[in-house]
Amino acid sequence: MKYFFTPSTQHLADSFPGQRGACIFKKFSDGEQYVKVIDDVTGQEVCVISSTVPPSDNFFDLFLLLDALQRLGARVNLFLTYFGYARQDKAAHGEALSAEVIARFFKTFALNTISVIHVHNPEITQFLPFINNIPYEFFYSIARNVDVIVAPDKGAFSFAQQIALHVHKPAAHVEKIRPSYEHTQIIGFTGDVKDKRALIVDDMISTGGTIVHAADLLLQQGALSVEVAATHGIFDDDAVGKIERSCIKKVHVTNTLEQKIHHAKIAVHDIAPFIAECIELLRQK
Ligand code: R5P
Repeated sequence: MKYFFTPSTQHLADSFPGQRGACIFKKFSDGEQYVKVIDDVTGQEVCVISSTVPPSDNFFDLFLLLDALQRLGARVNLFLTYFGYARQDKAAHGEALSAEVIARFFKTFALNTISVIHVHNPEITQFLPFINNIPYEFFYSIARNVDVIVAPDKGAFSFAQQIALHVHKPAAHVEKIRPSYEHTQIIGFTGDVKDKRALIVDDMISTGGTIVHAADLLLQQGALSVEVAATHGIFDDDAVGKIERSCIKKVHVTNTLEQKIHHAKIAVHDIAPFIAECIELLRQK
């Protein structure tokens, strides 16, 4: 099976040398995007590895690639390393339901299968059925070296509990509210981190507000040290600066998104073997 990568996942393409399908992405002088598939994939099963991370050029490249492959008569499996816009999963009066808009585009392509790595809210499968793949081994490997696993908000508590259970450690959780899209505020804490090495687990780090505030609180509660593990490192706004100035000892992320950051406090774990595993499982089904 040939694997096609879009510009948002080019950093992963070298990990799949034998399977790479050939295609061209370019932009015309007026900004319009263009995609051409070079390989003849007529009647073949292929896998597109991509993400819907902003800017929107990324998912437009993806939509054009899906169209080009389908026109060639390929049977397309979609593998999203990151489902961007998944956080906009509810709409108040007058707001767009962005996660559903993205889902609706995918539905027009009659895809064979859709897989996603660690989606923000698995409930959005109501908009689009897909397999949600969580890189548990990434979390377990870090969790084995700490004493307590902490969810940075109530919503992530069952996830933290799952990891804690697997590595036979206790779990705790912070209670957070989000007064606005970019700001977070801690309002409570449940658990015991006194004299313990704590690990905060989350799906993503965006502005870094959630983990930095949670880490401060854990230290106030007597934690010895605080590390963080999150699947997706978005690191927007001043996230890296916030992490640098924070009490956090180490942040672990994967490269579901390209990581150009080189910082002593940030460790990037390669997600390519996990992607290969997930695709292999799909093939066996
Ligand atoms: C929220 O529910 C998510 O799981 C993350 O905790 C959140 O998106 C992280 O955002 P930020 O880094 O901007 O606080």
